[in-house]
Amino acid sequence: MRSSVKVVPLERVSASLLTVTVGHLNKKLPGSLLGLDAALDGAIKRLIATGDFSGDRDEISLLYPPKGATRVLLVGLGNPMEVTRGAIRRAAAIATQKAASLGAPTVAFHLAHETHGGVSPQAVGQVAVEGASQGAWRFRELKAVVDDKPPVKTFEIIVAREERREVEHGRQIGNATAVGQRLARNLQMLPANVCTPSYLAQIARDLGRAYGFKVTVWNRSQIDKAGMRALLAVAQGSSEEPRFIMLEYRGAARQAPICLIGKGVTFDSGGISLKPAQHMEEMKYDMSGAAAVLGTFEALGQLKPPVNVVGVIPATENLPSATAIKPGDVVRSHMGKTIEVVNTDAEGRLLLGDALSYVRRFKPDCVIDAATLTGAIVIGLGHHAIGMMGNDDQLLQEVRRAGDRAGERCWPLPLWDEYREQIKSDVADVKNSGGRPAGSITAGWFLREFVDGYPWVHLDIAGTAWSDTDRPGLTKGPTGLCVRLFTEFVLARAHA
Ligand code: BES
Ligand code: MN
Ligand code: ZN
Repeated sequence: MRSSVKVVPLERVSASLLTVTVGHLNKKLPGSLLGLDAALDGAIKRLIATGDFSGDRDEISLLYPPKGATRVLLVGLGNPMEVTRGAIRRAAAIATQKAASLGAPTVAFHLAHETHGGVSPQAVGQVAVEGASQGAWRFRELKAVVDDKPPVKTFEIIVAREERREVEHGRQIGNATAVGQRLARNLQMLPANVCTPSYLAQIARDLGRAYGFKVTVWNRSQIDKAGMRALLAVAQGSSEEPRFIMLEYRGAARQAPICLIGKGVTFDSGGISLKPAQHMEEMKYDMSGAAAVLGTFEALGQLKPPVNVVGVIPATENLPSATAIKPGDVVRSHMGKTIEVVNTDAEGRLLLGDALSYVRRFKPDCVIDAATLTGAIVIGLGHHAIGMMGNDDQLLQEVRRAGDRAGERCWPLPLWDEYREQIKSDVADVKNSGGRPAGSITAGWFLREFVDGYPWVHLDIAGTAWSDTDRPGLTKGPTGLCVRLFTEFVLARAHA
């Protein structure tokens, strides 16, 4: 999807779908829509007068003008005093989602002047494109029989002349995060027989070549040499080789990097502690954290902000076999601490522990990991909040704010000392499951055992990386979560 910013009267827009977003109308036509309404012979006025459209959030109405655009779509934003970045992103997503279902390839988008709220023109440009790309996303890569509805090809933001430059600046940022998020969603969608650890490594290498950053990939024997036996323990049940992937983006001289770690389990069967068959196919998205890191590096490559970022992806499958790790086995981690593996399905924390220990060598300014880590986070927060934990209040706040701007909201959970008791082991330094109570927190505590000397935040995205249902502006399936959050975080650091 290509995006652009245009200055043109609404009644003269030629698109297959012209979207106009409006807030609560109180039965009155916004002044900025007078021209368009005249071109529609007063259809908008009548629509409002009948009360058939009031401008509530997510409300839509489709009109067919005699000339100009093929279709006009009104999208409600709700209370104009409460119009936020999120509301505008969502309206743009609803617009392209509708366009995709209609088969309307060219979309124009206009935010009625009265409904900007406190959102700057730059932010409008950014979130409009982010939303548009999100709503238009379709996954056709593995279909042999292609459906006939054309995809959304272009997205034009229609603005007033005086806003043009600022909106255009925002559009470029939004386009970069959108490209990154699209990569992440596609990777999440790919099945585990395609998206293997070496496939993720190849994507990292491709990004490195395209944008000119350093990429290092280790195979099984290199991981062994580095002493990451916890990662190896997960990989030992699979004939598919693990990979340890590092990406280094340098946008600034001599500056401690931000480090982003993503869980890259390309399929999680549970191992010997096998998962039930129902929904097991969904465990192809257990690499969503890795996808977020790769998507973020795509956005960084496009935007080239003046900051240093290291991405780290421990990647493996988790399968049962004659060589697989068994419940009760004890392994020695990269940090040196020994781990009793009481449940082979608590594998993510094993590879993340080794990654968290390894990244000390980058002398990071801060470390953020994203992982589909626990089913318990789905029970605790459902599908609308990322679970966040960490060792530094300031960093936690900073990440949370980035998430708010990104529309990827985080909610804090406590890492109190009392919870640590649950992961004490009788035979080793620590065990990899703390049982059912506070399952997300004890997973966080396990990770913390391998954090040393840097501020750190852990994001549990098991409930948010995938949507089981269609939502307004978000078709069911992978969400590409954390690309926007990570990018917002990095950009704020770059311009601080
Ligand atoms: N990948 C799963 C967590 C998960 C659950 C992701 C649902 C997405 C949706 C993780 O590896 C896992 O299996 N966790 C276990 C831990 C338990 C054995 C301590 C869980 O949550 O059940
Ligand atoms: Mn698991
Ligand atoms: Zn897992």
